[in-house]
Amino acid sequence: MPYQTVKGTYDLLPDQMVRFNMLADLFRQFLNLYGYSEIKTPVFEYTGVFQKENDTSDMVTKEMYTFSPNGKDSLTLRPEGTAGVIRSFVENKMYASSEFPVKLGYIEEMFRHERPQKGRQRQFTQMGVECLGEKDPLIDAEVIALGFFFIKTLGLESVKVLINTLGDSESRLGYKKDLIDYFAPHKEELCYDCQNRLEKNPLRILDCKIDREADIVKNAPKMRLTDASAKYFEDVRHYLDVLGVPYEIDDRLVRGLDYYTDTVFEVVSTNEASGSQATIFGGGRYDDLVKEMGGPQMSGIGFAIGVERLMILCEAEEVFDIKKSLDCYVINLNRDPDYAFAVAEELRSNSFSTEMDYYRRSLKAQFRASERKNARFVLIIGEDEVKDDVITLKDTLTKAQETVKREELVDRLDQLMEDYYE
Ligand code: HAM
Repeated sequence: MPYQTVKGTYDLLPDQMVRFNMLADLFRQFLNLYGYSEIKTPVFEYTGVFQKENDTSDMVTKEMYTFSPNGKDSLTLRPEGTAGVIRSFVENKMYASSEFPVKLGYIEEMFRHERPQKGRQRQFTQMGVECLGEKDPLIDAEVIALGFFFIKTLGLESVKVLINTLGDSESRLGYKKDLIDYFAPHKEELCYDCQNRLEKNPLRILDCKIDREADIVKNAPKMRLTDASAKYFEDVRHYLDVLGVPYEIDDRLVRGLDYYTDTVFEVVSTNEASGSQATIFGGGRYDDLVKEMGGPQMSGIGFAIGVERLMILCEAEEVFDIKKSLDCYVINLNRDPDYAFAVAEELRSNSFSTEMDYYRRSLKAQFRASERKNARFVLIIGEDEVKDDVITLKDTLTKAQETVKREELVDRLDQLMEDYYE
């Protein structure tokens, strides 16, 4: 049996790679537009970077690829981007920057041992941002806008922004108590995971995939926000309005990771092609993570887009308009390929993407190849052309054919390209 990819992993074949790169290029443009710099952190880190004491998230408790190559250090394949970026922010003392906030972006592979299904893999890619060092509702709104307008620029229609606030630590402490008091008498009715969450992180019960629709969960008490938190959330909403980002408030949006405080958000797809994995991206603010990682008390906010889920949605909404094309295809009709081979290389060194026939096929077969490759110019090199040091040049757009001296070829191609774009 030939080898196959490991369950939950996949190849990006050339066609998909073109799409992937298109998304990555546009995301990088957005990083630039909003003043973010790209960062790359290692694929594996010490386990403690991701695992905090009393962490209740599925990602940390069930899904991490943790290993110990020397029997001493515990290492983990990166399950998400935020923790590594903050480890780097602290390790490299970026918190001492004179320019705040520090805006970092990344496009990186992540690893989670989840049950694979459409839109959920064990190796996947996130495009994310982290904006560190300042807490201001303007920043929350701008981070959400960056993600939302990126999605919109792709031409995706069926997406909506959900936002919520988890309050500051004071609001949350009171709310945790309210929820424990409320759920404790109904503990038996909750799923196994939620029974465990009850004491440690009862907020997670609210968006549990299993219990979410149960009446006891639907009727759970709402959070009583402190005045400061309520005002913060009001301001975030106001600035989203100013920026023209439409949103819905979902007061049961809690998010799966434990580190969030105040603003949380998700962009979800309403297209049925996305199936059950409809969350295209999610994020939120975290007040305590920098400190927990050994840095000063500094807040941050960010999000991460699941690239595979985004690709599924882009396919479904047919936003990719990709037709691979080539500038020049060289048809060689001589037994000796030297002349044509050298012309092809000269074109590439002048930035014209170029291919030529390696097989000495018939003129017709080579023409067909040039069509398949969607070449703008076809260069025909037969015996006469080599003798006279000229090239027969066909412009497939105008259908015009001409004979060009080899030394003038590059200038002539430049001119034809320019004429077309004028
Ligand atoms: P997350 O919600 O765990 O957040 O993941 C963000 C996105 O990554 C999800 O919305 C989804 O699109 C994608 N994703 C997650 N797991 C998988 C999977 N197994 N297969 C395919 N796609 C997946 C975070 O990771 C946070 N670090 C986001 C963040 C950044 N919060 C603040 N800053």
